[in-house]
Amino acid sequence: MLRFNYDKIVDIYDSFEISDDTNRQMTEKVSAVLKEKECGSVWDAACGTGAQAIPLAKAGFKVHASDISPHMLNLAKQKAEKLRIDFFQGDMTISYDVLKPDAVITLYNALGHLNKDQFHQAVKNFSRTLPEGGLFIGDVDNRAYLEESGHIPKGFFLSGQDEDSGWTRLSKADPIGFGLYRMQDKWFEHDSAKISEKWDLQTWYKEELEDELDSCGFTVLEWHDREFHNRPEAERDSILFIAQKN
Ligand SMILES: C[S@@+](CC[C@H](N)C(=O)[O-])C[C@H]1O[C@@H](n2cnc3c(N)ncnc32)[C@H](O)[C@@H]1O
Repeated sequence: MLRFNYDKIVDIYDSFEISDDTNRQMTEKVSAVLKEKECGSVWDAACGTGAQAIPLAKAGFKVHASDISPHMLNLAKQKAEKLRIDFFQGDMTISYDVLKPDAVITLYNALGHLNKDQFHQAVKNFSRTLPEGGLFIGDVDNRAYLEESGHIPKGFFLSGQDEDSGWTRLSKADPIGFGLYRMQDKWFEHDSAKISEKWDLQTWYKEELEDELDSCGFTVLEWHDREFHNRPEAERDSILFIAQKN
């Protein structure tokens, strides 16, 4: 599994990679679910630059936030300013039993960076560290949707553009079996090629995801897509689950 090196794009990640509207909707919904289930503390196990960890801390949750990328984590710390967030660098496939949060989140396709064995390890870790009734909220890309013909263009396609900063991203996605895609991304600042990265993305069928979560001791309470749009299942490009530890 080729790992995406977020350290390379940390300076443009916020303005470029994550849409404010998507993130606001996602974080508000997550915050509401955590409150409803009386989860006072949350571990964001792939916090990136803090897109969810920071608003959740502002909303009053006790937040632990970790990421495998030191540069992403550093930016998150700077943005958090004086907020009390317990930041640490960490790989979610490694166990952190000492944390004992009420909920774990890994959002915006962080789980897509794990192959199935790594996913199993990470979810087992979350299961061990959560209490009975604790929540695990995550999202992946929907393999069934992507395999429908026409959803993945052949060759490079425009996958992102930020007119203010002048950055453009072109991507290519080649299926390499078992729901894995070999991604090739190229970033351009105006017309000049700046960053190039090859990485692998794991996608999931909803049914296999449900079986996997079940095998790690979780029951899925709700299925959504990343934007929490009420689209029919066949039209969902992503799968967001709200799961509860048995
Ligand atoms: C698409 S970003 C999402 C970050 C953040 N949740 C957001 O919405 O902006 C994916 C993040 O997962 C992190 N990541 C990838 N593999 C990881 C692992 N094994 N353990 C912890 N973090 C990981 C990356 O470094 C990156 O910051």
